[in-house]
Amino acid sequence: MNKVAFITGAGGFIGNETATTLAKSGIAIAVCDINGSAIKETVARIEALGGKAFGRVLDVTDPQDVDAAVAETVETFGRLDIMVHIAGGSSRIAGENVKAAPLVELDDFVLDRVLKVNLYGAFYTSRAAARVMIKQGEGGKIINFSSTVGLNGLKNMTDYAAAKGGVISFTKALAKELGPYKINVNAIAPGVVCRTNVVDITTPKGHAYAYDTNLLGEQCTAEDIANLVEFLASDKARFITGQTYVCDGGRSLSMKGTD
Ligand SMILES: NC(=O)c1ccc[n+]([C@@H]2O[C@H](COP(=O)([O-])OP(=O)(O)OC[C@H]3O[C@@H](n4cnc5c(N)ncnc54)[C@H](O)[C@@H]3O)[C@@H](O)[C@H]2O)c1
Repeated sequence: MNKVAFITGAGGFIGNETATTLAKSGIAIAVCDINGSAIKETVARIEALGGKAFGRVLDVTDPQDVDAAVAETVETFGRLDIMVHIAGGSSRIAGENVKAAPLVELDDFVLDRVLKVNLYGAFYTSRAAARVMIKQGEGGKIINFSSTVGLNGLKNMTDYAAAKGGVISFTKALAKELGPYKINVNAIAPGVVCRTNVVDITTPKGHAYAYDTNLLGEQCTAEDIANLVEFLASDKARFITGQTYVCDGGRSLSMKGTD
């Protein structure tokens, strides 16, 4: 029996890689994103590898749309085993030209959007998935995306830090609710995953940001994160729940002024 995964943000940098990685292991994928052309790219990549995918434009801030997309996934593939909520980001998701700002300058619409996509999105997608998984009665895996910013905070990103910190607490509480149904609930907290369209690693500053801010002196790739999702979504992670997995090359261990 093929497993089925519902993935949000699946048109994005980490989402595309994650959807493709899961598809390579035979999992059928509902590729959901607000960006229709990005969805097409992910679906085409999966199909070119012989995998199964169905694309669905989705705004995770709309609970009815989330419920409908999950229902369509079950109609299309017959079941749901894995839900991965990747859609998210800092102030930029409120608009291309929106910049991170200190709290005293934070616009309400930016705060609203950052909380809605990252945190409310986790509520809506986890709820819709859990309802199906409980009814199926065969367990399941729910994985939400946090960030090391959600663990440690970052100036000019109070909105994003609160949203991603909320994802961590949400994960713990939901794991307690869903444990009796054998549904594992975990979160992933990436550090700097270098998006070469955003950070120019050919400049000394960009290169240092990608390589020198972690303990391994290497660049974190979307594959590194996708591999962690693959593990948490697999039977190998049977006994792991309520946890937040940091994937940052040890970056978050550093303390200013010390080694
Ligand atoms: N890249 C990093 O360094 C990094 C670090 C820590 C955490 N993260 C987290 O990882 C996740 C993926 O990041 P990424 O770098 O791939 O970003 P990305 O911008 O490439 O992907 C995010 C995707 O979410 C989609 N999206 C935005 N709003 C949406 C909405 N309302 N409904 C549905 N889809 C929506 C976008 O269209 C995009 O395809 C995010 O949650 C981000 O906060 C990323």
